Amino acid sequence: MSQLEGKVVVTGGGRGLGRAYCEALARAGAAVVAADIRDTGGTVAAVTAANGRIIGTALNAADMASCEAMARRAVDEFGRIDVLINNAALYGDTQGGRFDRIEQDEWDRTMAVNVRGVWQCCKACVPAMREAGGGSIINIASLAAVYGMPFGLHYATSKAAVIGMTRSLARELGHDWIRVNTIAPSAVLTEGTDDFFGAKKDKLLQSVAAGQSLRKNLTTDDLVGTMLYLASDAKWRLRLQ
Ligand SMILES: NC(=O)c1ccc[n+]([C@@H]2O[C@H](COP(=O)([O-])OP(=O)(O)OC[C@H]3O[C@@H](n4cnc5c(N)ncnc54)[C@H](O)[C@@H]3O)[C@@H](O)[C@H]2O)c1
Repeated sequence: MSQLEGKVVVTGGGRGLGRAYCEALARAGAAVVAADIRDTGGTVAAVTAANGRIIGTALNAADMASCEAMARRAVDEFGRIDVLINNAALYGDTQGGRFDRIEQDEWDRTMAVNVRGVWQCCKACVPAMREAGGGSIINIASLAAVYGMPFGLHYATSKAAVIGMTRSLARELGHDWIRVNTIAPSAVLTEGTDDFFGAKKDKLLQSVAAGQSLRKNLTTDDLVGTMLYLASDAKWRLRLQ
């Protein structure tokens, strides 16, 4: 049996990294719930065509009722939730700009999805994880949170909050055998990055790569190994025996 023969909820599965996570999880044997404010039809069709188990569901992470509906849908369809990947965020869909020119609405909208949305998806899914005897939450932060990011203060600040939330939740939920971790990637070549960097994309991506030890921009394939490792609990279970 595959290590990921559990039930997985992925938020932000409509495109980019979320879609890559859905496809990799399904290949690893997981039952996947692709939840996104965008249409997830393309992700569902690709996974289904490869004989994977997946459903798509609409999610607005900023709305608690929507997060609860997502968790209910996962349990109704697959009977349990083992893994939650908090990938949904305003990244490609947010507007960058000088720190003193960011609109207050844009700041609030970013915090509502990127910070409150992560908390709300955790609140919605943790009861099912407790019932399953444990689980894994993977919050997607960003290198912007620890390295700093000019012209993206609201985004970088929201991702720094995700790191703080992860550390505190890990301490609180460890008692329920629920692990909480963060992946904080550098720039990854996705549609979201195209939208976020806009016309200056090529120049900015070059300067990001130049500051890294490995001087290349990441692709979605570079991220899935870490995600699968954190989602899998086989080794962790062995330690308890
Ligand atoms: N691509 C990168 O360079 C990079 C680097 C570091 C971190 N990240 C993070 O990785 C994740 C995926 O990024 P991506 O590159 O695929 O970009 P993206 O902008 O396409 O991904 C965000 C996803 O979240 C969804 N979303 C937006 N608002 C939502 C809401 N209210 N409710 C539910 N879903 C919502 C979008 O539809 C989209 O599918 C994001 O959390 C992003 O911040 C990306």
